[in-house]
Amino acid sequence: MWDYTDKVLDLFYNPKHQGVIEDKDEPGVKVAVGDVGSIACGDALRLHLKVEQDTETILDARFQTFGCTSAIASSEALIELIQGKTLDEALKVTNKDIASHLGGLPEAKMHCSVMGQEALLSAIYNYRGIKREAHDDDDEGALVCTCFGISESKIRRVIIENNLTTAEDVTNYVKAGGGCGSCLANIDDIIASVQQQAVTPVSASPNTNGQTSVNKLTSVQKIALIQRVLDEEVRPVLIADGGDVELYDVEGDRVKVILQGACGSCSSSTATLKIAIESRLRDRVSQDIVVEAV
Ligand code: FES
Repeated sequence: MWDYTDKVLDLFYNPKHQGVIEDKDEPGVKVAVGDVGSIACGDALRLHLKVEQDTETILDARFQTFGCTSAIASSEALIELIQGKTLDEALKVTNKDIASHLGGLPEAKMHCSVMGQEALLSAIYNYRGIKREAHDDDDEGALVCTCFGISESKIRRVIIENNLTTAEDVTNYVKAGGGCGSCLANIDDIIASVQQQAVTPVSASPNTNGQTSVNKLTSVQKIALIQRVLDEEVRPVLIADGGDVELYDVEGDRVKVILQGACGSCSSSTATLKIAIESRLRDRVSQDIVVEAV
């Protein structure tokens, strides 16, 4: 028996937002849908958003979930968190926020909170008309877990976002490794690689105890790290979609970039900035980074 909180049980037994939102072509309103997971893998979530176009405010949201108690509770929690928010505000909701809203989830059920966050991102990307290849690099890179179809990119992202340190953690968050187990050694290697990357950028700036910290980066190191993240992790995704980005300047935590190609003329360039560039730089460099186009 899982040790669920009262909040989890309450939302599971009394879900208020199950269902669909039909697009009735209301003026000034747009309905978007986001899908994540698959019934074949045991969990699937479809999120419907009703958005006021002028303000990009979420007027209503509904979900359809194929999953367990925590999947339903996580979907309810997600909707409680995003109702009335703008899409940009909703983009800041993390799987940790969902789990926290529930008063916690059993570790083995954390993948339900991840699924909620991913459905939200999928719905917002669909609303903004951003093609999947342009906004989501989770499907890039080698397939690590064939049992659950999980790529190296997705495993790396969830490790970084949740500070995961063991293969068991990864299984709890994205299921990878929870089938035949043949990918567990590869997951260990990815964890080691992420931990190494976290140390490498700051190794030149040890503090007085000989330890390192991202916050201790000098300005030169910080700019170099930003450039490296753009070159290695952001530009390949944008180039694949006919765009590109160039680092223009860095003033404190304000990172100024020039969007090029398809990105420069794309109506979704703001979303591209926020999602593909800013969030990645916040993950890798500093949570305070703000990206601006010049
Ligand atoms: S390949 Fe990952 S659990 Fe089987």
